[in-house]
Amino acid sequence: MKAAITATAKYLPPDILSNHDLELMLDTNDEWIRSRTGISERRILKDPEKATSYMCGEVGKQLLAKRGIEASEIELIIVATMTPDMFFPATACFTQSIIGATNAWAFDLNAACSGFLYALNVASSFIETGVHKKVMVIGADKMSSVIDYTDRSTAILFGDGAGGVILEPAKEEGYGILDARLYADGANGKDHLLMTGGGSRNPASHETIDKKMHYIYQDGRQVFKAAVTSMAEVAGEIMSRNNLCAEDIDYLVPHQANQRIINATAERMGLDEKKVVSNVASYGNTTAGTIPICLAELDEAGKLHTGSNLVLVSFGAGYTWGGIYIKWQ
Ligand code: UT7
Repeated sequence: MKAAITATAKYLPPDILSNHDLELMLDTNDEWIRSRTGISERRILKDPEKATSYMCGEVGKQLLAKRGIEASEIELIIVATMTPDMFFPATACFTQSIIGATNAWAFDLNAACSGFLYALNVASSFIETGVHKKVMVIGADKMSSVIDYTDRSTAILFGDGAGGVILEPAKEEGYGILDARLYADGANGKDHLLMTGGGSRNPASHETIDKKMHYIYQDGRQVFKAAVTSMAEVAGEIMSRNNLCAEDIDYLVPHQANQRIINATAERMGLDEKKVVSNVASYGNTTAGTIPICLAELDEAGKLHTGSNLVLVSFGAGYTWGGIYIKWQ
């Protein structure tokens, strides 16, 4: 039996960082940011006491309430993140502790912006093989913790946020996560979007701090080109493998990095604008959070019905990218 999503939830911190706020901090302007990225504002988890696991906990509690199950019923928690609370223990273990899922095993998965799709695919394997019946998958990033707010090329792009789902066996054949194609290309991607400090190659030192190595570095133009090509290709592949034409697709749920990348992907798929989910204007790029936040918003708006066809596509550091086809149950 395929795996189906049985609950969705999201958490966005209340504090807003608008383009106008950024104008006061950086040599940038609202017009440039909106025309080049589509972003107007993003959310920031300001409380220094709160880390990524706080947002995961908020998502996890909502998921349990929405599905109407006890925390003890969750068998596995996967948190996709590139901004864990700390290297170890895993943010998934902090999340387990917050929600009280005492019977779950728990681990983090890092595929940057593709983290949620990678995690969804891993989790669905445990359901399909009958190993588990209830798995929680959360994508969450506190991007403000790794952003240099004096670097206008990255500071304008990212925000904090989390979203997640519960996966269970589909009730009927032909529903749930029906296909997934996931890719990585370290040879061409590893040098264009990365954080060099803090790991085993460059452990934290005065030097790594002085050289700003604990912040994100991105070669925006390179990543942009690769993202446009790869997201369109994988979306096309998902469509042809599953005999889907543009009319068959109810929603494209793309990673929210840049409205221009989203538009290019939708155009290649021949999709009407109404079928393309976008909230990048309000939240910016929340990395592993973008796709589950979009799913939760669709669900909350009552837009997901039995038989709805969803195509999820992502692209991020690594490079990593992928596409998933879901028939909503
Ligand atoms: O989620 C992970 C994957 N990440 C992505 O998908 C992000 C992919 N990349 C992008 O979205 C875009 O490349 C950016 C939004 C990062 C940049 O947009 P762009 O159209 O590629 O701009 P650019 O880097 O080519 O810069 C164009 C100009 C430059 O000035 P000159 O050299 O033409 O004089 C930049 O210095 O815009 C300048 N610029 C800015 N100006 C005002 C760069 N950043 C800013 C800024 N405000 N924030």
